[in-house]
Amino acid sequence: MNLEDAKRLDAADPLHPLRELFTLPEGVTYLDGNSLGALPKATPERVRRAVEQEWGEGLIRSWNSAGWIDLPRRLGDRLAPWLGARPGEVLVADSTSVNLYKVLHAALQLQQGQRRVIVSERSNFPTDNYIAQSVARAHGGELVLAERPEDIPPLLDERCAVLMLTHVNYRTGRMHDMGLLTRWAHQAGALAVWDLAHSAGVVPIDLLGSAADFAIGCGYKYLNGGPGAPAFVWMHPRHEGQVWQPLTGWLGHASPFDFDSEYQPAPGIQQYQCGTPPVLAMTALDTALDVFDVVQKLGGIKALRNKSLALTEAFIGAVEEQVPGAVIATPREAALRGSQVSFALPRQVDGYAVMQALIARGVIGDFRAGDPELLRFGFAPLYSGYADVVTAVDALADIVTTGSWNAPEFTNRSKVT
Ligand SMILES: Cc1ncc(COP(=O)(O)O)c(C=O)c1O
Repeated sequence: MNLEDAKRLDAADPLHPLRELFTLPEGVTYLDGNSLGALPKATPERVRRAVEQEWGEGLIRSWNSAGWIDLPRRLGDRLAPWLGARPGEVLVADSTSVNLYKVLHAALQLQQGQRRVIVSERSNFPTDNYIAQSVARAHGGELVLAERPEDIPPLLDERCAVLMLTHVNYRTGRMHDMGLLTRWAHQAGALAVWDLAHSAGVVPIDLLGSAADFAIGCGYKYLNGGPGAPAFVWMHPRHEGQVWQPLTGWLGHASPFDFDSEYQPAPGIQQYQCGTPPVLAMTALDTALDVFDVVQKLGGIKALRNKSLALTEAFIGAVEEQVPGAVIATPREAALRGSQVSFALPRQVDGYAVMQALIARGVIGDFRAGDPELLRFGFAPLYSGYADVVTAVDALADIVTTGSWNAPEFTNRSKVT
């Protein structure tokens, strides 16, 4: 596929016009929406209105008149269908790490001290395993890590309280079968907690159909809520009223404006709210979700998924054909692949420097240290297209083949990689 072919495919793609809903700088090929989603064009004006009118003029009255107080639930309701959940079951609040802390504590409490082991994978995103270590310690248990996905089932034994997995792995883009693993966890007497950071808004998710127990995820990746956007949390309704989540702040109280001295948890997911919501950040996420209303009319998550699979497949093929020594770390089988592609380069090639050289040419992906070091490219079907695939792989092939990455401006590492 050359650039002309790619542009023809983009022109024929019914989702391609969605790109116009985003601000993407001229000359930039953005393949990092799995890390930070692009800016929806409507966001600056909407946030400006929230600042100038709702805050500036409405002042404290806006908690009621602008509906600020309802944002965590309202945004949760908007997200619910994209997670396979029902309105009223999802709350937007805090960060993914904080929400994970809440749900892991709740899950361990549900096991009533009979089981204290959390099972996960060593390759999980570090924050998940760090939080799980601390929660397991607090309950007198431990975190046990599978080295490979196939090592998970034997760890689901009578000590296992919770199976905590990230649906799509942040390094490899490998996707777990949520229904199957949840079933295995339940058959072993464990609960299933899912991190949807790399799947919300880009792959079909069926939390209720999978009968999962808890889920959490980020608002700033494929949902495009902006840097540090609030996260979301879901609990299966069967657990309602069974336990307290540990961060018992006033807005998770059954009647916060009674200012009672005793904590009484609010029913359902509302209990998972802790303190005052970040209204401006919530407003940005609210605006970003408008794009998903448009997607719903263009085939919904199925259409997004089909496009994402086509783009990642085209990218894998082009990298294999054009980039010498690249070893793809992402599954080729569609059912096992999220919406990103990662690959390793031969040891003598500095992957970090290659990514910096690529960024200098306007192609933005990212680099993840580890063994192997990986170059990661996220395909956000809302605004990524076939021309992005061709531009990125042509530049990559040139950088690796000519060795132009080997220059001091590319090899010196910055704080954020
Ligand atoms: C799987 C996963 N969980 C959680 C996070 C981040 O959590 P937080 O938003 O709390 O920093 C990331 C960030 O990339 C992630 O990949």
